[in-house]
Amino acid sequence: MNNQDIVNQIRQKIDIVDLISEYIPLVQKGKNYFGVCPFHNDTNPSMSVSREKQIYKCFSCGASGNVFNFIMDYDHIDFKEAIKVLGEKAGIEVSGITVAPKTTKFDKYYDMYEIANKYYQNNINTKEGQKAKEYLEKRHIDENLIKEFGIGLSLDNMNALTTILSSKDYSIKELDNLGLASNNHDAYINRIMFPLHDISGRVVGFSGRIYDNSNLNKYLNTKETIIFKKGECLYNYHIARDHARKLKYVIIVEGFMDAIRLSQIGYKNVIALMGTAMTSEQMHLVKKLSTNVYLSLDGDNPGQNATLNIGEELTKLGLNVKVIGMPTEKAEHDPDEFIIKYGKESFDNLVESALNYSDFKINFLKKGVNFNSDLELSNYINSVIKEVSNIKDEIRREIILKKLAIETNLSYNTLEKRLNEYLEFQKVVAKEETPKVEVQDKKTTKITKYEKAAYALIYGMVNDPWVIRKFEKEDVRLLTKELRYLASEICYYYRKYGTINMADFYTYLTDKEELLVVYNFITNLDYEEEVSVKAIEDYITVINEYNMRQEIKRLSDLVKKENDPIEKAKIAEKIRLLRIGE
Ligand code: UTP
Ligand code: MN
Repeated sequence: MNNQDIVNQIRQKIDIVDLISEYIPLVQKGKNYFGVCPFHNDTNPSMSVSREKQIYKCFSCGASGNVFNFIMDYDHIDFKEAIKVLGEKAGIEVSGITVAPKTTKFDKYYDMYEIANKYYQNNINTKEGQKAKEYLEKRHIDENLIKEFGIGLSLDNMNALTTILSSKDYSIKELDNLGLASNNHDAYINRIMFPLHDISGRVVGFSGRIYDNSNLNKYLNTKETIIFKKGECLYNYHIARDHARKLKYVIIVEGFMDAIRLSQIGYKNVIALMGTAMTSEQMHLVKKLSTNVYLSLDGDNPGQNATLNIGEELTKLGLNVKVIGMPTEKAEHDPDEFIIKYGKESFDNLVESALNYSDFKINFLKKGVNFNSDLELSNYINSVIKEVSNIKDEIRREIILKKLAIETNLSYNTLEKRLNEYLEFQKVVAKEETPKVEVQDKKTTKITKYEKAAYALIYGMVNDPWVIRKFEKEDVRLLTKELRYLASEICYYYRKYGTINMADFYTYLTDKEELLVVYNFITNLDYEEEVSVKAIEDYITVINEYNMRQEIKRLSDLVKKENDPIEKAKIAEKIRLLRIGE
């Protein structure tokens, strides 16, 4: 079997409605399913998924494709990776499939980072890496973890990496732009190097840690570059992705040391923020992994404040947030130190007893409140009730209010009355807020009858081989170069594989981007699948008419330019004959 056959087999085994449902909620309406399109910013269900055709399309942004296109776009993975993921799901062996790697204009830079990464990794195993190894050992980072996370070392030498890369056709300016050099020297000197990957898993930056007692910054990170955007990067994301989906939750920690430690004790679904800030891009990336998020930030003040802020934002995004309680005493206030000191089981217990975000917040609100002060007490009660008003689960609301009644010595009814006032108030506010109606970005360009005929013909071709045979027999010439090219690929595919359908043809176009754009446009038009012979013949007639008009126009222009009266008459006669034919 060749590549395309195996790939088609995988596609046929994986139902598109089932697959997309694992990523976004879908609701059935008629024979199609609808959901909020993940490929543009929207809240309306503009994406439709067809079980029959095994394709999805978005009416608003025009995204469309089959199961492969969906996960490639959703997870920013290439075709090869998509085959691997879906092949595994379908239980089909894919090791024999060869796919040419997709090239991008940044390949040179990715290569550069690959070289740097290999170089740093090699250093740590040399004699010069001895001290760094000892440091890591002291921090319980063993050989396996060093390999798994690609930990390396930059030497105590200002020109080591710059020399290597300069000899390989990279200019010092490029090294500088990409953050590997600064002021004509290596950017990283004598640091333990942690490679940072983008969400597709390519190395795009480093974080270097001091390991002797120097008083430089503890960590030095790659600056923002065209391939490294800190606000869109989450440590270990490319590894955690599949684990988080399988386990149905993701754990967020602050530092990559924490992520490495959690991974070591079995939490492979962990990602690190690399600090206490979380951008909205990062939040949306997390949302793509799971709707259940565990925050396991440091127990110190910055960590707890970040838990409060990030938890609030993630909750607003519709995620279920839980908070893993970290001891707030000093010595072991980050997950890494906690696990080293108390072991895996103690951490498992923390995960097990993680608080709902709202409970965490209420505990947080209570801190330092003087219950003897009327003002402080009523502020506290109001802020708790406000928090409770955001909880959808009525049972949880009641539990919290009951606890609040007991601890404040107020009657449950009073508190409930206040809660209802809040809920009423929120309803009024919600009504006053003008509903955000997204202006649908529908293609308003008029389609001429000729274009429609050509699009409908192609649409017919991928739905019914009979149309292909007719197309070839009549030797139809389509309006534009792209359409002609697309049609010839359809004919080629059909001849080669003896069959064709809309979904599989998407896969065939994966690396033919210009054609994919045209094909997307056509499949989005939603013509009838089953077209009559008469309709197809009419389309062909319309297209032929167009071609003839074009030819008359061309000849008319020629007549105007021609000076020789005999030649002029010849062309005029040709035009006359064409017109009679019309
Ligand atoms: P922490 O200071 O909590 O790091 O900063 P850590 O994980 O405990 O590091 P160790 O255990 O001392 O080695 C959390 C994260 O903030 C970023 C890093 O990404 C770190 O993982 N950070 C911290 C910096 O970028 N620069 C710094 O100087 C410090
Ligand atoms: Mn630490």
